[in-house]
Amino acid sequence: MLRILKRWLAGSRTKTSGELLEGPIPFHIAIIMDGNGRWAKKRALPRSAGHHEGMKVVRRVTKHANSLGVGILTVYAFSTENWKRPKDEVSYLMKLPAEFLNTFLPELIEENVQVRIMGDKSMLPKHTLDAVERAVNDTSQNSGMILNFALNYGSRSEILGAVQRIVDDYKNEHLQKDITEEIFADYLMSNKLKDPDLLIRTSGEMRLSNFMLWQLAYTEFWFTDVLWPDFNEKHLHEAISAYQKRGRRFGGI
Ligand code: IPE
Ligand code: IPE
Ligand code: MG
Repeated sequence: MLRILKRWLAGSRTKTSGELLEGPIPFHIAIIMDGNGRWAKKRALPRSAGHHEGMKVVRRVTKHANSLGVGILTVYAFSTENWKRPKDEVSYLMKLPAEFLNTFLPELIEENVQVRIMGDKSMLPKHTLDAVERAVNDTSQNSGMILNFALNYGSRSEILGAVQRIVDDYKNEHLQKDITEEIFADYLMSNKLKDPDLLIRTSGEMRLSNFMLWQLAYTEFWFTDVLWPDFNEKHLHEAISAYQKRGRRFGGI
């Protein structure tokens, strides 16, 4: 009887929480959500179907990360290079934030999540920008996990923009001190957010694709072959579990 009970307990634990988490939860997790197109292709579906499924995964992962006590979840939703894609795909991707936020915003408010956006907003269509700005405003009083959307984000242009604004601030004498790493980081789009502790990239690609080049200097990387629409709570646990086994030395011993 006792043996059966033990097995049942072990089984239910495996089912509900994947791998057991014992160490610290990474405060800032950043995700390069990749593989939506390949997921759709495997099913003979249009690429948009993969993006739609991917959006549902953002919702699940957000809820789960929040329940685990993650402080910041940054998700790479659209890069400055993604404008190179066919017009139809770009316009579908630009509709997704409104669809996602229209259905998910009440839940985000209820769960005390703060929405932020990081990227060049000037290029976004009005309907996209309106949806994200509404979400940012409606959740600005929340004090829980930050859900940071990297939308039309590119790290090189972020760094160049920072340099340009530093030069301007020197010229107009707003800035007179020597530039430290802290001052420089304040000019980046991620300004007051702590650097990511853990970076996840799905779909088997092992590159950064112009994502947070400055901020990822000492981040732990975790790659998986899983395509983003197939990513779930269990995979998040696997990533966190791997993170907990790493020895972060930051150059020390
Ligand atoms: C990630 O999936 C979503 C975006 C880049 C917007 P992809 O659309 O890049 O999917 P693959 O890499 O072609 O499979
Ligand atoms: C990176 O994925 C951008 C996002 C996930 C939004 P891509 O699919 O655009 O990257 P590459 O082209 O494979 O490097
Ligand atoms: Mg891709």
